Amino acid sequence: MANLMNSPAYEAARKKAEAMLATMTLTEKTGQLSQFGTSIYSDDEQTFDDHFAEGKVGSYLTIKGAARTNSIQRALMKATRLPIPALFADDVIHGYRTTFPTPLAQSCTWNPEMTRLCNEAAAKEAYRAGLKWTFSPMVDIARDPRWGRIMEGYGEDTYLCSRFSEAAVRGYQGDGETIGKDHVYACMKHYIAYGACIGGRDYNTADLSLQTLYDVYLPPFQAGIDAGAATVMSAFEDVNGVPATGNRYLLTDVLRDQLGFKGFVVSDAGAVTELVPHGFAEDIKEAVRLAFGAGCDMIMAGDPYNEYLPALIEEGRITMEQVDRSVLAVLTLKYLCGLMDEPLVDESGEDCFFSDAHMDIARRAGREAAVLLENNGILPLTPAAMAGKKIALVGPLAGEEGKGHLLGGWACLCDPAHTVSIEEGMRKAFGDTCDILTLRGCGVTCGNSEEEKAAEREQVRQASEAAADYDVIVAVVGEEAGMSGEANSRSDLTLTGCQGQLLEALIATGKPVVLLVSAGRPLILTPYKDRVAALMLIWQMGSEAGDAVADLLTGVVSPSGHLTTSQPVCTGQVPIYYNHANTGRPALGRWPFEAKYRDCQIAPLYPFGYGLSYTSFAYEDIRLSATEMPQDGEITVTLTVRNVGNHDGAAVVQLYIRDLVGSTVRPVKELKGFEKVFLQAGESRELTLSLPASSLAFHDPGMNLIVEPGKFKLWVGEDCTDERFAFDFEVI
Ligand code: BGC
Repeated sequence: MANLMNSPAYEAARKKAEAMLATMTLTEKTGQLSQFGTSIYSDDEQTFDDHFAEGKVGSYLTIKGAARTNSIQRALMKATRLPIPALFADDVIHGYRTTFPTPLAQSCTWNPEMTRLCNEAAAKEAYRAGLKWTFSPMVDIARDPRWGRIMEGYGEDTYLCSRFSEAAVRGYQGDGETIGKDHVYACMKHYIAYGACIGGRDYNTADLSLQTLYDVYLPPFQAGIDAGAATVMSAFEDVNGVPATGNRYLLTDVLRDQLGFKGFVVSDAGAVTELVPHGFAEDIKEAVRLAFGAGCDMIMAGDPYNEYLPALIEEGRITMEQVDRSVLAVLTLKYLCGLMDEPLVDESGEDCFFSDAHMDIARRAGREAAVLLENNGILPLTPAAMAGKKIALVGPLAGEEGKGHLLGGWACLCDPAHTVSIEEGMRKAFGDTCDILTLRGCGVTCGNSEEEKAAEREQVRQASEAAADYDVIVAVVGEEAGMSGEANSRSDLTLTGCQGQLLEALIATGKPVVLLVSAGRPLILTPYKDRVAALMLIWQMGSEAGDAVADLLTGVVSPSGHLTTSQPVCTGQVPIYYNHANTGRPALGRWPFEAKYRDCQIAPLYPFGYGLSYTSFAYEDIRLSATEMPQDGEITVTLTVRNVGNHDGAAVVQLYIRDLVGSTVRPVKELKGFEKVFLQAGESRELTLSLPASSLAFHDPGMNLIVEPGKFKLWVGEDCTDERFAFDFEVI
C-alpha cells in the first residue's frame, strides 16, 4: 500500500539526509538522537541551551506554543554549526487544545473515520503550535481495566484496534504520500505489550506467549506501519524477561525486519536508564549500549546517548554504521516534513484553536462515543416531554467542578474554560422549558478524616432530599481526570468516595434516575444496573462533553456507541475479554468442576460490542457468498439493515467467527469485520462485509503463520453474544 514511508518524497528526503549526514561530527550525530524536555514528570521547560553550540539537541518534548517553539528554534539555529532544527514533539493524545473524547471513548464510536477526523484536527492545532510530532496513537491492547492507561487506547480487541490504529495514523499524518503543513508525525506506542502488564499494575512485567504477542498485540502496530506511521515508542516493561527498550529481537528482528517499519524508534521517558533498575544493565553506559544496540534510535528526555555513545563506538561496542543508520532515519523525517526548509511556524496560526469546525468534530465524536447500557424508555428526555417539569442534576461531575474531569487524562493543553459542562449543555438544550437544579452531592473522592466523611454524608443527605422533589434525577458520577492514565492503576474499580452512597440515596427517593458515568475506564456498575431508569457511559468526552450529552439525552441524536471493553461484574473478574480461549471444562453449568468462579458469574455485566439505541434495527436477507473458501480465498457476507424504530440512528453491524478446531486452541469468538451505518427511521441499506481467509491466520505452535483448513462458525450480530444469525463455512 502506498504511504508516506514508501513514497518518492521519502526517498528524496533520504537523499538529502545522506548528504547532511556526511558533513556531521559524531557529537552532532548523537545530538540528533537525543530528545530533551520534561514529559509529564514536571512543568520545568528546560531548554538545555548550553548544548546548542555543539549540536547536541535533536528534539524536544512538551514545549507549548508557537512563540515558545520558535524562540527556542531560533536560538538553536543561531548557535549550532549545522542548520538542523529541532523536532518538537508532545503528547497530543486526544486533541491539542480542542479536546476530543479519550481514545477509549473514540473506539466506542466504532467509527474509525471519526478518529481520523479528530486526529486531523488535533494535528492542525499541534502543527500551528510548532509541533511536528505527537506521541500517539497508543495501540496497546488492554484487557485489564485496572490498568489506568486503558483510556489511551482502543480497547480489548485486536481487529478493532487495528482499524483505529490506521485511521489514527492517517489523521495525524494525512492520507497522502507527503506530510506538510497542518500534519504531524504519529508515534505508535508503547511497543509492545505494555497493556499486558501483570495485575494491571503500570510498568509491570508482561509475560505472554509468542503466539499471543504475534496474534493479539502486534497486528495494530502492523496496521499503523502499513498506513505509514513514521515513528514508534519503545515500552517501559519487560516482555518475557527482556525489557522492551533493550529488546533487539522486538525492536529490530520483529519491528523492522518482519513488520517492515522504516522510521525511527524513540524510547519512552527514562526507559533507557531504567534498564539499570530492571537489573538488565549494570550501569547507564551499559543501558545505552543495550537500548541503542537493540534498535532504540532516539532517547527521550536526556543526555545519556550524547554522553556514552562516543565511548561505546571507540570501544567497538557500537558501530558508526549503527549510529549513521539511526541519524539518517531522524534526518530523513526532518527533511520529509519540510522542517529543514521552514524551521519556524507562523505564530498567527493558532486561531484554529477551539475553532467552530474543531468543536463540531468534538461534539459529533462525543455523541457517537457514549454507550447506552440501560433504558426503561425514559430516554430520550425531549424538551417537549419535560416542559413544565423539573430535573435534578446531581453529582460531582455534573457542574462547573466536573468540567476539567470531563476532559480526561492526557488532555494536552486543554482548557476547562473552553469546556461545556453537563449542566451548561442541559441548560442550553432545555432552555426554560423545564427547571434544572444542579447539586454536587459529594466529591469523586473523599478525605479520610471522620470530619470529612461526615461532611460528605451530609451533602449526600441534603442532595437526595432536594432531588426527591424533582421529576427526574440525572446523576453524573465516575472518575476524576487524574484517576486514569499513566501510573493510575487501581485495585478496586467500584465508585470512589461517597458516590455509591449518593446513588443509593438518589435511587431510594423513588424518582427515576438517569445515571451517567464519566470515567477513563470501565467501572463496576453492577449494583445500579437494574435499579436506574437509564445508564449511559459518557466516558471523558472532552471540550464539547456537555453539548454532546445533552444531544443524546434530549434525543437530537440516538446513542450509537458500543463497548470495546467487556464491562466487568466485579474487579475480581479482570482481566476479562470476550475473545478468550475455551477450556476443556467450559462453564456450562453442568457440574461443579468447570472453569468458573464460585461467587460470581464468568460473563461480564455487558459484553464487548454491546450498546443500545433509541431505535432498533432488523438484519434481513443475510447471505454468504460461499460456504467454502480456499486458504487464499475470501467470502463476503451481504445483508440488509433496516431501521425499524421511530428514531434515526446508527447500527453497528459486527461480524464474528469461531475456528472450531485448530492446532492451537482458538478463541471462542473473534471480531473480523464491522460497519457502522446511519439510517433514518424506516430506512434500510444493503451492506457487504468481506472476510478474507488471510484474516483467519494465526501462529501455530511452531510460530508459522497459517490459515488452517477446517470448519468455522460465523455470526452477524449487534454484540459478541448475539447468536441469532449463525452460519457455517469451511476453509478447504
Ligand atoms: C509515557 C509516554 C509519553 C511520555 C512523554 C511517558 O511517561 O509513558 O506515553 O509519551 O511519557 O510524555
